[in-house]
Amino acid sequence: MTNSKQRAEKLRNELHEHNYRYYVLNQPTIPDSEYDRMMRELQDLEEKYPELKTEDSPTQRVGGEPEKSFKTIQHEVPMLSLNNAFTDDEVYAFNKRIQERLSTEDNIEYVCEPKLDGLAVTLIYESGILTSAATRGDGTTGEEITANVRTISTVPLKLRGTGYPKLLEVRGEVYMTKKGFEELNEAARKKEEKVFVNPRNAAAGSLRQLDSKITASRPLAIFCYGIGKVEKGDMPQHHFKILEQLSKWGLRICPEIKVVSGIEKCLEYYERVGKKRANLPYEIDGVVYKVNSMTEQQELGFISKAPRWAIAHKFPAVEELTTLNGVEFQVGRTGALTPVARLEPVFVGGVTVSNATLHNMDEIKRKDIRIGDTVIIRRAGDVIPEVVSVILERRPKGSHAIKLPSKCPICGSEIIKPDDEAVARCTGGLFCEAQVKEAIKHFASRKAMDIEGLGDKIVELLVDEKLIAHVADLYTLTHEQLANLERMGDKSAQNILDAINESKKTTLPRFLYALGIREVGETTAKILAENFKTIDNLIAADEEQLQQVPDIGPIVAKHITVFFRQPHNREMISKLIAHGIHWPVIKESNTAKPLSNMTFVLTGTLPSLSREEAKEKLEALGAKVTDSVSKKTTYVVAGESPGSKLEKAQNLGIKVINENELHKILEGKH
Ligand code: IVH
Repeated sequence: MTNSKQRAEKLRNELHEHNYRYYVLNQPTIPDSEYDRMMRELQDLEEKYPELKTEDSPTQRVGGEPEKSFKTIQHEVPMLSLNNAFTDDEVYAFNKRIQERLSTEDNIEYVCEPKLDGLAVTLIYESGILTSAATRGDGTTGEEITANVRTISTVPLKLRGTGYPKLLEVRGEVYMTKKGFEELNEAARKKEEKVFVNPRNAAAGSLRQLDSKITASRPLAIFCYGIGKVEKGDMPQHHFKILEQLSKWGLRICPEIKVVSGIEKCLEYYERVGKKRANLPYEIDGVVYKVNSMTEQQELGFISKAPRWAIAHKFPAVEELTTLNGVEFQVGRTGALTPVARLEPVFVGGVTVSNATLHNMDEIKRKDIRIGDTVIIRRAGDVIPEVVSVILERRPKGSHAIKLPSKCPICGSEIIKPDDEAVARCTGGLFCEAQVKEAIKHFASRKAMDIEGLGDKIVELLVDEKLIAHVADLYTLTHEQLANLERMGDKSAQNILDAINESKKTTLPRFLYALGIREVGETTAKILAENFKTIDNLIAADEEQLQQVPDIGPIVAKHITVFFRQPHNREMISKLIAHGIHWPVIKESNTAKPLSNMTFVLTGTLPSLSREEAKEKLEALGAKVTDSVSKKTTYVVAGESPGSKLEKAQNLGIKVINENELHKILEGKH
């Protein structure tokens, strides 16, 4: 037992040390597997000898029994809030007040810190051991959340080193990283659970859990930024020195914190951090300036609940509320439709926003957004503003649903949205103005019409100069038009013209691929050409016929039929052919297999062939083998104890054959 006691203590100390290296310094010195092994050993020991368990044991981070409710805790040293400044003038006024109170005109030394967007907590260390943790609450009374805070890896359960006061209260912000937040929401989305609006709400929600096991599963972290009560011990006399000392004891301090002299330098810090903001791994909503000297802090004191020695200089809000007045659909260069919110103009993140993206129809559905709703708009850094969520409580009576248009707002072609895809698309690729540049680039590309020399830049120039509006116009381009383009010589113009001319001699697969039908890549184009032989056959094929072709599933079939159903697309094909595009005829005998166009259904046990063998043999000869009997079935092959398929075949009048007859067909004697 004494041995076990010593061993447990050793393990605890080592695990604390590795925790610190891993979470605070970001410099682990042992592999995770070794850490896990030590942790398991300690867990086993503590299970065997429960009396060895201590409050600060690293095993205590996993979360314990759920609590019925939170206990309240009185903050002996109140947890204050900060006054805000939104403009430089307000910051200068803050500095002036301080200089006046301290009767000095000298530069004041300030500590500049990011204002973390999380939740304030206070941690109490008694003899270096974390004994209690609480939320800020109203500043004097908070909720006791010790069990939850223990689960946060960056909170030391035990202070490192020596020299800490007998009682030390540390204050800081618990937050969730942007990445952790995204991952948490992604997982929630997959499980169709509620998602959090932002990392701060997610951190708050995670910390105020009665079941600390839930908290343990959430990606929370802490940055410490101050102290509260101190007993029996001394702390440095400057704020920054205090933070450095806390860091030495293993508490995590934000690396962006800087000491500066004078308020101008504070404003420079604000600019600098503002620029960095989007790239920081955590959310901040401003910076905080604090008088560095503790004696000066004491001299300055407080007004109501905020200190005179500190101020929060906020960034312009990145989230605001406004009304969704309507939705328009924009067509991207690949035909993707993006719903764009038309908003009641609102000032957010430093600019007036009247449009924001709604991403796609699935997002609209998931967020349950309707026209007329009050919505939250977010603008982060330079990215396009987005509609984050809706305030359901404020939904007006006359609100109405957002509908996907059936026709492209640019070219009038049909819109297609497969059920399992989030994005809706315009099917008029060849014609649609929004997509024409991409369509032409694809058309001219190497695996398509292979027009050498007609690169992306030239295509863009030709469209911008209004020399071409769609692919067919390529074939009416003149030498003069091309030669007049910027940085185009006579020779290159002629080369391109020759290449365009040359491209008229092509193959059906290339031509089909060049049309840019969604989901029709090179291979599919080949398969289609082989099976349908002519473009007219393909245009005439319906979804069912297309699906008879091996490798063509319902989605591809749908894309193909919708594409050819668009009058503009068919017109474009006629024009291209009229301009002289041609390809060798695909002969029936070359590729046709003896059983293509026949569909078989197998049922029951055949005397010699397994069902798999029969299927393989049939498919090798071009037949299609399906599972269910329909009017399209050519033969049902029935063996012993056939199922309902036989009955269905008889009802539909489909010919039923046995294995002998099947062999004859396979041998070509039918
Ligand atoms: S100091 C007496 N420093 O802002 C000063 N607060 O508006 C008390 N906060 O409740 C707080 N980052 O949740 C301080 N670097 C920072 C901070 C910070 C975020 C939060 C904290 C506090 C609130 C006050």
